[in-house]
Amino acid sequence: MGSTLKKDFMAGYIRSDSRSEWKEGAVTTQKHTTQARGPIIDAVTLDSRSVDPGHDQNRLDRSREELRMLTGKLLTVQDEERRRISRDLHDDVNQRLGAIGLQLDSLCRHLPASSTLIRRRIGAIRRHVSRLSDDVRQLAYRFHETTVEDLGLAVALQRYLHDFVKRTGIKAKFIKPHSAMPIPPQLATCLYRIAQESLGNVGLHAQASQVTIQLALLPDAVSLTIRDNGVGMNPDDVQSRTGGLGILSMQERARLLNGSVEWHSTTGAGTDVVAHLPYPVEAP
Ligand SMILES: Nc1ncnc2c1ncn2[C@@H]1O[C@H](COP(=O)(O)OP(=O)(O)O)[C@@H](O)[C@H]1O
Ligand SMILES: [Mg+2]
Repeated sequence: MGSTLKKDFMAGYIRSDSRSEWKEGAVTTQKHTTQARGPIIDAVTLDSRSVDPGHDQNRLDRSREELRMLTGKLLTVQDEERRRISRDLHDDVNQRLGAIGLQLDSLCRHLPASSTLIRRRIGAIRRHVSRLSDDVRQLAYRFHETTVEDLGLAVALQRYLHDFVKRTGIKAKFIKPHSAMPIPPQLATCLYRIAQESLGNVGLHAQASQVTIQLALLPDAVSLTIRDNGVGMNPDDVQSRTGGLGILSMQERARLLNGSVEWHSTTGAGTDVVAHLPYPVEAP
């Protein structure tokens, strides 16, 4: 009976001339077993070649950079898609619902005074259409930052927070910046998305009763803090990126604008998400 065992390896060692060298390859052992004795190794083959770890590191760095560019593109495409869906919902679907409402009103007006039952039924349909129209408008806000573009980040965040409180029952407080200095649109959009994603996490994971959002305009940067009083989390999970897509996409969005997002949390003591985005440097 014989068997072959192959083990790949990569090893670094210091040569007699004090320089280091890396080798990779495989060790193959062939052994056979006799009845009387244990395994007998027939042959050990060493197959190796020198490698330049710097070269592999460069390849790794390049793949990481490509992956980052791809993530950036994906986020942009996702934003464009959301913007389109939001506009369709707001400008098309909602307008049509409005038109149906008006037609129902007109139908009611043309009914003979005796048709009380039909009038009541049409009234009920009218209220349904109205509620549907409100929901569609909320959905459009949630999907996209047209509100950020139209109303500015502070107002858009306040509206979103209002909607969040209604949906989740979690109390919310918004601390506005002292000045009304305009925030560059790409920074505003990024912070709006980070707020959406973080509030989503508060609603889903934190078991919090209170959330505070603070928007602050610093001399050279804008910062957004989302603080909850929930169960907290292990920030090491964030560091090692074992989290879901939400945390990853927040970090990537901020990185694309040379900014950062940090999580400060202790188990049982809530979570602070702090996004920090520098103002873009004007081209000379
Ligand atoms: N505010 C928070 N409170 C408690 N845990 C959180 C909070 N935010 C994030 N987490 C934890 O981090 C994990 C990763 O979050 P995320 O990347 O958004 O992915 P997902 O929400 O899809 O699980 C969550 O599953 C949750 O365990
Ligand atoms: Mg999430």
